[in-house]
Amino acid sequence: MIKLKGVYKVYFPQTPNQVIALNNININVREGDFVTIIGSNGAGKSTLLKILAGIDKVDMGQVELAGEDITNYPEYARAKDIGRIDQNPLVSTAAQMTIEENLAMAYMRGKKRGLHKGITKKRQELFRDVLKSINMGLEKRLQVPVNTLSGGQRQALALIMATLAEPKLLLLDEHTAALDPKVAKEIMDITCKIVETKKLTTLMITHNMEQAIKFGNRLMMMHRGKIILDIDEVEKARLTIPQLIEKFTAVSGDVFADDRVLLAN
Ligand SMILES: Nc1ncnc2c1ncn2[C@@H]1O[C@H](COP(=O)(O)OP(=O)(O)OP(=O)(O)O)[C@@H](O)[C@H]1O
Ligand SMILES: [Mg+2]
Repeated sequence: MIKLKGVYKVYFPQTPNQVIALNNININVREGDFVTIIGSNGAGKSTLLKILAGIDKVDMGQVELAGEDITNYPEYARAKDIGRIDQNPLVSTAAQMTIEENLAMAYMRGKKRGLHKGITKKRQELFRDVLKSINMGLEKRLQVPVNTLSGGQRQALALIMATLAEPKLLLLDEHTAALDPKVAKEIMDITCKIVETKKLTTLMITHNMEQAIKFGNRLMMMHRGKIILDIDEVEKARLTIPQLIEKFTAVSGDVFADDRVLLAN
């Protein structure tokens, strides 16, 4: 589903502040893979997802989605195929708009505009149904502005919005990190349910090692712009947190440094 070939991203090139955020990344993600990504601070995790979403441009290399070379496609041209959620609940939804307006916007993504009225009765029913499925009571609040919702409710809505148009790829950048542990767990449960039902190819960055091991069928670890570990389902199933840290040290020769890393919730 995704192929990255020789991808480089350099910030402030040829200056003393040069940062090689992605250093020759080569990955092949199969359709239906749910990959968790963990790594030290500044490893390039968010940059990798931004490159995929088209928010950042590669300096070298090639990005393929479902067999198509999308390297030079701008963000808006990828939006119908790629859903992305940020760590900050304020970013992924439009605060001043109502729940149904946000959902209508997500629904229209990638569809020809001008053919349909934004919100029809039929569409409202659809929105109510998807909101019901996540069990947060949001289906009774369609006309409420999003800025009256809690962080968890906003991330749940963001998840629905990101997946409403059946994207080929779902990108989650620490989307539970700003939430308290109980709400984070609820959002992870909803995430798994959506990913499983829609069989979405998903990349999820987390700084929580327990989450990285528990979820998905593949785990990648990044360090200084490189993917230093790529662990398959079988190995991941028996992996423990101490083993993962040990592997990191063995491969990188560094101490795992992440000021926010959580061994467990
Ligand atoms: N827009 C930008 N301009 C300049 N440098 C950037 C930019 N975005 C990222 N960087 C730098 O690129 C490197 C990789 O950053 P990135 O945000 O991808 O790391 P990360 O793995 O997501 O880290 P964290 O765990 O802290 O979120 C860092 O050194 C960062 O400072
Ligand atoms: Mg990041």
